[in-house]
Amino acid sequence: MRDRQAKNLGLAIVGAGRVGLFRGEVAARHPQVGWIGIAEKNPERAKFVAEKLKADFVTDSYEELLSRPEVNAAIISTDEHLHVDPIMKAVEHGLPMLIEKPLATELADSAKVLAAIESAGIDAVVGYTQRFRRRWLAAKEKVSAGQLGDITLVTSRAFMNRLVAIDNYKRTTHPERISPMVISGTHALDIVMWMMQGKTPVEVYARAIDKALGPEYKGIDATSGVVTFSDGTIYQATISWALPVVWPGAVYSLDVGIVGTEGVLTIDDTHRDIVLATSKFQGEGYAPDATRRVDFMGSYPPGDMALGELRGPMREETDSWLNRVSLGLPTPAATVADAHKNLMMTKAFDLSARLKRPVALPIDAKDDIYS
Ligand SMILES: NC(=O)c1ccc[n+]([C@@H]2O[C@H](COP(=O)([O-])OP(=O)(O)OC[C@H]3O[C@@H](n4cnc5c(N)ncnc54)[C@H](O)[C@@H]3O)[C@@H](O)[C@H]2O)c1
Repeated sequence: MRDRQAKNLGLAIVGAGRVGLFRGEVAARHPQVGWIGIAEKNPERAKFVAEKLKADFVTDSYEELLSRPEVNAAIISTDEHLHVDPIMKAVEHGLPMLIEKPLATELADSAKVLAAIESAGIDAVVGYTQRFRRRWLAAKEKVSAGQLGDITLVTSRAFMNRLVAIDNYKRTTHPERISPMVISGTHALDIVMWMMQGKTPVEVYARAIDKALGPEYKGIDATSGVVTFSDGTIYQATISWALPVVWPGAVYSLDVGIVGTEGVLTIDDTHRDIVLATSKFQGEGYAPDATRRVDFMGSYPPGDMALGELRGPMREETDSWLNRVSLGLPTPAATVADAHKNLMMTKAFDLSARLKRPVALPIDAKDDIYS
């Protein structure tokens, strides 16, 4: 007989935006979650999400929520640059966490958060989500089992609709701090670095371009670069988040090739397999622009709404984390150390592109061009 004591969860959700709601809806269905509290700054959003989740407690203060006696686990799903304070408060309370990517937007903050979590011995994971798509899990299995031999070359091409970039640039007063690598390239990088576990990156050489988003938003369009590992392995990564709004992929398309001494694996995650064309605008799900009439369905990274529920990787990731916290089961989710390394590497791409020369890895907080 299995000896497994399930722990009942009182879940705090800090930041009840899109992701907070998705994860909250999954949590509300999880058998071990008996209590849900939310902290959300925007009162209308707080009311809307509280009603959807039938939340037990609602506040605009994450300090108040995280101090509640019912809370024994927390999801931190605030905007990218607002993770650090609620994480540090959750550390004070010793709470296991699921933190949205990126861990922080500045390297000094990310290092601070990593050190605090590690020294407090807190069990925390970071929501990189794409690891939970079955195609990436299947690829990881083949790479780990050695089916490709020793990996020698990886390529990743991430193509994104500029809607995501515009949304990010409009939400910030510091567009120079928002980079496609840090916000979105980190997803492709996380997948590849997960495949390359055990190899040590030693150098990055990158270039960036800003002709489309530069003039209006002061933003970067695309970054492309090569990472070299200590054993000579090469990883070529490209991200553009400046594809025109009429590009059929609403959000993210990824194409990865992994070449080894004894095999090759190509993974098409571009979502051309389900194409919707319609003359009628449908506002359901992720539908950010009413002029778009053709869509590669499935390009929204969290997954898709179907029959009133989120289906896809963010659901599986959330369930996997809840199972880890309540049942002690393993999860392939990114660790906080993985997330810090991802941020460091995305920052190194940006630094190399700005300096127009190779940059030795790892870089540290003083090399962070945005802090
Ligand atoms: N894993 C994935 O696939 C994935 C997908 C999309 C977004 N994300 C990440 O999730 C995070 C949230 O993104 P989103 O799309 O849900 O953004 P969002 O803007 O919809 O939600 C963020 C919410 O946090 C609230 N908030 C901010 N600071 C707060 C605070 N101190 N206390 C309480 N509430 C606060 C805001 O009012 C907002 O409602 C980001 O880090 C983003 O990068 C991850």
